[in-house]
Amino acid sequence: MALLRLVGRVLHGVHPEISHRLGSLLFSIPLPPCRCERRWEVGGVKTCGPVGVAAGLDKTGAYARFLSFFCPGFLVVGSTLPYRRRGNKPPRVARLSPYSLVNAMGLNSPGIDRVVSRLAGLDYPVFISLAGFNAGDFLVQLLYLRRHYRPAAVEVNISSPTYRGFWRSLPELVNVDIPLFVKVGPSTDISSVARAVKRAGWGLVVTNTFPVEDRRISVGRGGLSGLLLYRYGVRLLERVRTYVGRDVPIIYSGGLFTCSQLREVLKLADAAEVLTAILYFTPYIITLLNRCLDSLR
Ligand SMILES: Cc1cc2nc3c(=O)[nH]c(=O)nc-3n(C[C@H](O)[C@H](O)[C@H](O)COP(=O)(O)O)c2cc1C
Repeated sequence: MALLRLVGRVLHGVHPEISHRLGSLLFSIPLPPCRCERRWEVGGVKTCGPVGVAAGLDKTGAYARFLSFFCPGFLVVGSTLPYRRRGNKPPRVARLSPYSLVNAMGLNSPGIDRVVSRLAGLDYPVFISLAGFNAGDFLVQLLYLRRHYRPAAVEVNISSPTYRGFWRSLPELVNVDIPLFVKVGPSTDISSVARAVKRAGWGLVVTNTFPVEDRRISVGRGGLSGLLLYRYGVRLLERVRTYVGRDVPIIYSGGLFTCSQLREVLKLADAAEVLTAILYFTPYIITLLNRCLDSLR
């Protein structure tokens, strides 16, 4: 724990774009996956624990082996696009106190085929997060996955506020016989998406980042994540749970750092995801969060 705090403090001292690059080098080390000893299930998907790594930390699949070493419940890789896209110019990330970030990566992706090729042979529950600027982008990727790679689940990201083209309601999707979760956020028309998801037997991820203005970011705005997102996220979770009832599986994401927060969200959600906490406190925080519930079982 002391080492974790020390690494966190060192990472705080440098510009977030530089710590992002240092992190990229470190996270590319291929470590062996953790043995899946903790069993959890969300929407029929078997995972190695309740807390996974949220979309956006490993957009390319290059960090999946490193992250799997820290016993996450599952890894969400992406968001991906059918084609290569560079994303926004730096600076794309800025820190905000306490323990929060603003980011506008601009949906950079090497393309789904490159991402999937990096995941070959990795024996760990991997979810693929798909993004799209039109319904065709989602369809092409779902069909690609049906033929070339079977992830444990798919997340359909319709709520990224950092690029033009977020969706208020759900685009037309095909059922490809892979468990599917739709990721919603502040831009989403919750009632229409909840109805569509319930009808199709899919699940939800609540929430994506919250749109804010920030002059430090090259495009002048971005998505807020981390501790400052937590209260908003829990309120949205409460609203969504009321809409969909108990039948629809929900994964919570937004400002999770501690065991007491995890216990609070798991009263309404079936699993959780973390990103900003990993950037502040290293991936070991995922190991600790997944141990939180052991004493209660
Ligand atoms: C740098 C960064 C990149 C992100 N990229 C994605 C993404 O590609 N797709 C997505 O669905 N969410 C993305 N997110 C949102 C996270 O998955 C997560 O929902 C959000 O940050 C709230 O969780 P947190 O407070 O634990 O970070 C990104 C967040 C950050 C900070």
